[in-house]
Amino acid sequence: MSAFGILGALTATYLIYWIVRAVYRVKFHPLSRFPGSKVAAASAAWYEWYWNFHQPGQLLFEIERQHQKYGPIIRIGPSDLHINDPEVYQDVTRVGSKFVKDAKFYNFITFPGSSIGETDPAAHRIRRQVLTPAFSPQRVQELAPFIKQQVDKLLSRFSEFAKTSTPVDVNAASKAFTMDIISKILFGQQVGCLDDPEFRNDFVRYIKEAFEMGWTATAFPELTKFMLSVPDWLSKAIFPIPIMIFKEVSSYLERQKHTTSVAEPEHMKSVVIDMLVDANSAKGHVVPTPDQLTEEIIMLLSAGNDTTSDALIIGIWQICRHPEVVRRLEDELNMAFPNVRNTDAITYENVRSLPYLNAVIKEILRISNPLPGRLPRLVPQEGYNLYGQHVPAGTALNFSAHLLNRHPSVWTNPKDFDPNRWLGSDTAFLDKYLATFQNGTRQCLGKQYVSDFSIRSAAWLTSPVD
Ligand code: HEM
Repeated sequence: MSAFGILGALTATYLIYWIVRAVYRVKFHPLSRFPGSKVAAASAAWYEWYWNFHQPGQLLFEIERQHQKYGPIIRIGPSDLHINDPEVYQDVTRVGSKFVKDAKFYNFITFPGSSIGETDPAAHRIRRQVLTPAFSPQRVQELAPFIKQQVDKLLSRFSEFAKTSTPVDVNAASKAFTMDIISKILFGQQVGCLDDPEFRNDFVRYIKEAFEMGWTATAFPELTKFMLSVPDWLSKAIFPIPIMIFKEVSSYLERQKHTTSVAEPEHMKSVVIDMLVDANSAKGHVVPTPDQLTEEIIMLLSAGNDTTSDALIIGIWQICRHPEVVRRLEDELNMAFPNVRNTDAITYENVRSLPYLNAVIKEILRISNPLPGRLPRLVPQEGYNLYGQHVPAGTALNFSAHLLNRHPSVWTNPKDFDPNRWLGSDTAFLDKYLATFQNGTRQCLGKQYVSDFSIRSAAWLTSPVD
C-alpha cells in the first residue's frame, strides 16, 4: 500500500473511532441523561473552540443561555456538568468537601505544583502554609506606606493628563498600578509601570498574551502538550515571561545575599520568595527548584494583577455611571476626614467601618467577577447526589462566579449596580454567597490584601492632588 493509502486508512480509522465515541458520549454515557449542547457532549474541544475563539469570550454567556433553557444542570463536555445553583456550590466548596480541582483543566492553565495549580490536597496544604505569612494582616500593614505612594503616583499621573486635557487609558493605568504593587509584593521591588508615559510594560503584555492562549490550553490539551515539548529556546521565544520572572527572582535572591535585614526596610522584602526558599517554612515543604519557583511567581503575578486591575476598571466605570454613588461616597468621606489633605489619617482602622465605602467595594467585587467562570471540581470516589440523581466519580462539576453572583435566589435585581444591598441586615448571608474569591480551602489567598487595600485606596483616591 502506498504512503497515501496508509494515511487514508489511518484517517478513516480515526474518523470512525471519533464518530463511534461521539455517539457513545451523546447517547450512552452516564451523563447523557443531562441536557445541554450535543456538540459539547461529543467534544468539549470543538464546543469551546466555537464559543471562545469563533465567538470570542462568549462561552460563559452561552452557558448562561443554556441554563435559562434547561435549568440548573447542563452538560458542557463529555464528562463535565455546569451547575448554576448557589446551594450546590456551597456544598461542593465547603471546608471538608472531598471535591478536588480537576487536573485535566488546571494542568493546562496553571503550573502543576503551584499554589493555584496543585490538585493534590495534601501537597496544596503544605504550599498554602508556606505562603500564608506573606498574605497575613501584619504583612498588609507593612506594605501600606508603599501602596499609599503608588496611589499618590497614580493620582499625580492623572492630574498631569488633566492639565493637558489628554484622555487617560484607564485600562492601562489600572493594570500598571496593580502590576507595580504585585511586583513589589513578589520581588521586593516594583517594575515601574506607572512611570511609563503610556503605562506600558512587557510584564502586562506577556501576561495578557498568556491569558489569551489559556483558552487553547484547556480546549486542546494535546496541542498544548506538544507545544510544551518543543525545545526550551523555542518555547521561551513563544512564551518569554518565564525568562523575565526568572531574572527578577534571581536578582532578588542575589540582593538578599548582600543585604542585612537591618538595612532592608520590611516593604523591600519578598516574604513570598523568602518563605518558598526556606525548607523550614512548613513541615514537609520541599524547596522548589529555580524553574518551579519561577512558575509559582508567574502564577501569583497573574493571580494578583489581572484580577485586581479588572475589578478596579469595572469599579471606576460603575461609579462614574452612578452619580448618586459618587455623591454618597464623597459625603461619607468628607464627614469622616474633614481635613482632606491629611491623607495619613486614612488608615485601615479608620476606613473599614465606613459603611457606604465598604458597600461600594463589595458591590464592585460582586459585579466585576475578575475570575468569572468555570473552576471545575471532580466528584469524589463515592459519587455525588445531585437533585436525587447519582453523578459518577470523576465527573467535573463547573461553577461560574459570574452566574452565582447574579443568581436570583440570593440577589435582588442582580444586574443592577446597587451598593445599598450591602447596607441591610442580611449582609452575612450575602457574604456567604459571594462567589468572587471561591470558598473553602481553595479560597483566594490574596483576599485580605484585596479587601484591605481596595478600601484604603478608594479613600486615598478621593483625596485631591496638587
Ligand atoms: C479582585 C482580586 C482577586 C480575585 C477576584 C481573586 C479570585 C480568586 C479565585 C476565584 C481563586 C480560586 C481559583 C480556583 O479555584 O482555581 C483565587 C485563588 C488564589 N488567589 Fe486570588 N483573587 C484576587 C486577587 C489575588 C491577589 C492580589 C493575590 C496575591 C498574589 C491572589 C492570590 C491567589 C492565590 C495564591 C490563590 C490560590 C489559593 C489556593 O488554592 O490555595 N489573588 N483567587
